[in-house]
Amino acid sequence: MSFTILGTGKAVPEYVMTNDELSTLVETNDEWIRTRTGIAERRICKNETITELTVKAANAALENAGIAAEQLDLIICSTMRGENITPSQACIIQKEIGASCPAFDVNAACSGFIYALDVADGYFVRKKVKHVLIVSMDNLSNIIDWKDRSTCVLFGDGGAAAVLGEGDDLLSINLTAVGNDEVLRIPHGTNSSPFYEHEEQRAVLHMAGNEVYKFAVHAMSTGIKKAVADAGLELSDVDCVIPHQANIRIINTAAKNLDIDKEKFFCNVQHYGNTSSGSVPLALDEASRSGVLKKGDIIAMCAFGAGLTTGSCVIRWNKDGKTES
Ligand code: UT7
Repeated sequence: MSFTILGTGKAVPEYVMTNDELSTLVETNDEWIRTRTGIAERRICKNETITELTVKAANAALENAGIAAEQLDLIICSTMRGENITPSQACIIQKEIGASCPAFDVNAACSGFIYALDVADGYFVRKKVKHVLIVSMDNLSNIIDWKDRSTCVLFGDGGAAAVLGEGDDLLSINLTAVGNDEVLRIPHGTNSSPFYEHEEQRAVLHMAGNEVYKFAVHAMSTGIKKAVADAGLELSDVDCVIPHQANIRIINTAAKNLDIDKEKFFCNVQHYGNTSSGSVPLALDEASRSGVLKKGDIIAMCAFGAGLTTGSCVIRWNKDGKTES
């Protein structure tokens, strides 16, 4: 017994920042961003808090699944930075939606949704839960350096949630981590201890883009290949790939390496940029609600991120087609 996905729901901030607007902040231009990344615009939090977004996504997923908050047995939130250091964002979501089950956060950066699926799977296998809510959300706009053109053009805010129920639709799942804080990291900013002797670092995202690019292409190609083989399937059996939405060139290169038709890769990076752990479920929700996913479809999902972490899995989609958006 593993799980089935009963419903999904997204939440993104209202404010749309275009490439043209970004080029008024840093020395960049629409053409560079589109051709190097595929991104045309991203959503940025102005009024919205991470709590409002996580709760909105959670309620949308519960409604889509037809499950009440009281029926939840576990809530996992994957985020790099919830509203507070403690309590966890999952506990805040629990309070706001009116649930009463255990709740905790996981942090695996952009691979967070797939890490959370694997954690949830363990609870289903041990028969400790019947319904699990996963919410994956980040708002990187408050931890990127808005003066660094090599990173600030890549990211956006938003994410999505999924409600899992008992079922047999997780066909394989793999997580990896290679401890590395050199090519991608966001340090804590301040230390309030008067005794602390180390120099404080700026709490902004630092990334060696080219190194991460190479890692990403390898992670996506090998991750999908392994997940499909572990599921006892061939790459040609995959109906849809939901990849981490970091850069269209990474997705296209992985598609070429795997010899999977580019059209099978669901992409919304053009509208949202890289929303970190929100990225995979945000794409899953849009693929579901737009009718791209059909009942019985074999879906491969794959993500990579700071850690360096990766997650890949194959699921069978068990929901009827298009729902309201
Ligand atoms: O979730 C995981 C997180 N991260 C990723 O997945 C990111 C992976 N990496 C990438 O997607 C790509 O490496 C980037 C999009 C970050 C960079 O693309 P690239 O094709 O590797 O460009 P580059 O870093 O080699 O830079 C090429 C040129 C440089 O100028 P020179 O040295 O050739 O004169 C940069 O200074 O482009 C310049 N450049 C820019 N120009 C205009 C860098 N950023 C910009 C910019 N606008 N925003």
